[in-house]
Amino acid sequence: MSVDEIHSKIKEIYENYKEDSTGGYILGDGPIPCPILFVGEAPGKTEVEEGKPFVGVAGKTFESYLNSIGIKREDIRLTNTCFFRPIKIKETKNGKTSVSNRPPKKNEIELFRHILDEEIKLVNPKIIITLGNVPLKRLTEFNSIGECHGKLYFNKDLGKYIFPMYHPSSLTYNHSEEFKKAYNDDWSKLKEELSKL
Ligand code: URA
Repeated sequence: MSVDEIHSKIKEIYENYKEDSTGGYILGDGPIPCPILFVGEAPGKTEVEEGKPFVGVAGKTFESYLNSIGIKREDIRLTNTCFFRPIKIKETKNGKTSVSNRPPKKNEIELFRHILDEEIKLVNPKIIITLGNVPLKRLTEFNSIGECHGKLYFNKDLGKYIFPMYHPSSLTYNHSEEFKKAYNDDWSKLKEELSKL
């Protein structure tokens, strides 16, 4: 599949999906091919508004860590496991509606299985860094990020190295010093692994 074909396929999946609420879709961003591919969960509001992954609050955190190991955003490819924004719409007491993000459901991740596989083929990375549990479960046999973060694995099916990391938004709900240290250490380990590629 070409980038254009991937785009039309994502658009078609988005437009035909009626089972739950969604609020726009985006594509991946960055060079093709590219040795380093980061895979996130799903876009949020800012991502859909700007048409790019990781440009909201979590994206800013992500980019500052990326820069801290000497890599610029322009030098990596970034994409998601689910390409549309999964949303929840609620009626508030005063009759207004509120829209918030929700995690993508299993069937929504499956809708994009082929798309992510095709993007990986096109990008042809040396290493895939999964951010959080959603891409981890989609691309590896691990069940939880806690058991495997900060280490390099080889995925035989994909023929690629995988480096699981916590999602950058974890930092906004886990304020413990212990977690911050583990997260910092994972970035240092990633820097080390990248230098060996
Ligand atoms: N979080 C993600 O997982 N993906 C994005 O694109 C933005 C935030």
